[in-house]
Amino acid sequence: MIKAVRGVRDILPVGDTALAARRGAARRVFEAYGYREIRVPLFERTELFARGIGDETDIVKKEMYTFEDRGGDSLTLRPEATACVLRAYIEHGFQVEPKPVRLYTMGPMFRYERPQAGRYRQFHQANVEALGETHPALDAEVIAMLMDFFGALGLADRLELRVNSIGDAGTRPVYVSRLVEYLGPHRSELCGECQARIDRNPLRILDCKTPGCQPIIEKAPSILDSLSPEATEHFDSVRRSLDAMGIDYAVDPRLVRGLDYYVRTTFEVLTTELGSQNAVAGGGRYDGLIAQLDGPADPGIGFAIGLERVVLLLGEEARAAGPVALLIPLGEAALQRLMPAARRARQGGVPVELAYGIRKLPRELERANRLGAAWAVIAGDNELARGEAVVREMSSGAQRHVPLETLAEELLRLGARGRSRGTLERHASVSDAYLRGVATESRR
Ligand code: HAM
Repeated sequence: MIKAVRGVRDILPVGDTALAARRGAARRVFEAYGYREIRVPLFERTELFARGIGDETDIVKKEMYTFEDRGGDSLTLRPEATACVLRAYIEHGFQVEPKPVRLYTMGPMFRYERPQAGRYRQFHQANVEALGETHPALDAEVIAMLMDFFGALGLADRLELRVNSIGDAGTRPVYVSRLVEYLGPHRSELCGECQARIDRNPLRILDCKTPGCQPIIEKAPSILDSLSPEATEHFDSVRRSLDAMGIDYAVDPRLVRGLDYYVRTTFEVLTTELGSQNAVAGGGRYDGLIAQLDGPADPGIGFAIGLERVVLLLGEEARAAGPVALLIPLGEAALQRLMPAARRARQGGVPVELAYGIRKLPRELERANRLGAAWAVIAGDNELARGEAVVREMSSGAQRHVPLETLAEELLRLGARGRSRGTLERHASVSDAYLRGVATESRR
């Protein structure tokens, strides 16, 4: 049997009404803040990520799915969306639009990491970018929106927001040399990875999780003491705005992030509930990156949320997405009468299921239950003779007769009732179905 590749999973068509409703709320959060959806391709030229994310990062060094296509071009499955969105921003001339240009995108990302709970090789992000504005109020607004997203999912109380400033590209070397000077005498006490990082990417040492490195990291100089006056003022202003909005956060001077493009504000949302995969979302400012990708000198800030991790936190039971009604014809003649009604209901967006008239009523009623149908519509020869169908509420067993001529309208009415009670949320949109699939998948 051929199985899925390790670290990737199928998104199965089982739904979860509660999550879909929450997912809808989250989309409303993004759109209330003025974000518009952009969809970017799943693969790009390798060079985009090498230049965008940084040659020395784990992602570019070890984790990319890179291949040569038949034309000899080196392509890479996107390990993140920021570089792709910026490529599109530059290519389509978004810079002429009123700033900030606010874009969001959702979909799968690919990283060759060691798979474990909450860490996959194909995973999904909801990714947001606000481009063309340096004002610190925008940093605070982006963070506020992220926390509103978690608020809409009912998760805010279970998460911790950490913020930091890693300074400007111009002044950071001052800190890096202080850090290297401090680490030098401790080199032999550090783990092998960190010893290599001293020469390659010393900032990342602050992020090391190896227990042996912790006592050394704890005494390392704080990056906040090395910020330029401008970077300090920017960070203070971000904090004042967060305070003004009543957003709880902890300042974490060791929060450096795993991608090289960040400057000034960085932030992460952490949980203690998912073991070592504790980051549910992360982001920051990346002024200079657009120019580095041959675009205009526009600044930017954004974040990405790991959707599988969100779904693991929600931890809700998956429920099968049932139809509003199962139409049960008893025989061929009844099938021909019910088929047009089923079609009208479906054209009206009401999901119904139609049996084929070949099985006995008790078996079909059992099937209606298993499908999770709210109603069964039954028509046999007797009903046809009277020009009626029987509409049975599955939960109570209560039955009533409905004229066949108005059956389609009746189904549309039942569908509308279901919708107002939320039972049709799950049919709302393809993108909702996608996240529900993620929900189901992550619980397996
Ligand atoms: P990131 O921190 O690499 O940032 O990823 C963001 C989130 O994606 C993580 O916090 C985590 O929840 C999730 N994630 C990352 N790797 C995996 C994995 N292997 N399996 C499951 N979930 C994962 C970025 O990607 C930046 N592009 C964010 C950003 C946007 N910065 C500015 N704009």
